[in-house]
Amino acid sequence: MSDPRLPVVVLISGAGSNLQALIDDNRQADAPLDIRAVITNRPAAAGLARARAAGIPAEVIDHTLYDSRDRYDAALQAAIDCYQPGLVVLAGFMRILTPAFVHHYLGRMLNIHPSLLPHYSGLQTHRRVLAAGGAEHGASVHFVTEQLDGGPVILQGRVPVLATDTEATLAARVHGVEHRIYPLAIRWFAQGRLHLHAGGAYLDGRLLPPHGATLP
Ligand code: GAR
Repeated sequence: MSDPRLPVVVLISGAGSNLQALIDDNRQADAPLDIRAVITNRPAAAGLARARAAGIPAEVIDHTLYDSRDRYDAALQAAIDCYQPGLVVLAGFMRILTPAFVHHYLGRMLNIHPSLLPHYSGLQTHRRVLAAGGAEHGASVHFVTEQLDGGPVILQGRVPVLATDTEATLAARVHGVEHRIYPLAIRWFAQGRLHLHAGGAYLDGRLLPPHGATLP
């Protein structure tokens, strides 16, 4: 019988806690994913150990060894495509991607971003939310398009900002919600329920609103 699971390659740059959430979710009897490889641009990424502990092939493609973004992304693409993934998962992959790379995986590459997009795209989101005195924060899963952090949102998870919050406590709360929403959105994709069409994200054939689906 052919394997019904979705072949996936996960890209990371750091701790890999979202990778771990996917690995853990995928340990259930109805595991939706065949996580074929984890690739990082940073040799010191702690998430590499998580991949190896789970028996997943882990590769380093160090961006400092390439003299242009185009050359790096071409090497990354070649490495990813060896695994023939149906989905590329960006899980804390801290690189700006070239249009050619994005185009190659359009409709089959997801990202998670630590804010309620379209608010706070870019870096240091927790610090900026605290500085602005925001009452609410969260995370967004979105399709990757050429617009940085600007692809259509699939799912958001919200958390309150507390008066006592530091950057670290707020980040930890957001991480908690990330670990719920990313496995869920990826399950939807693996079940064939999620599509990018004409610039919009569709779940079960219905165009999702700008903030994506609501966390059940
Ligand atoms: C996560 O908070 C993710 O949302 C963020 O990096 C962190 C990675 O954590 N991604 C971005 O900021 C992308 N722009 P992890 O390595 O523990 O999964």
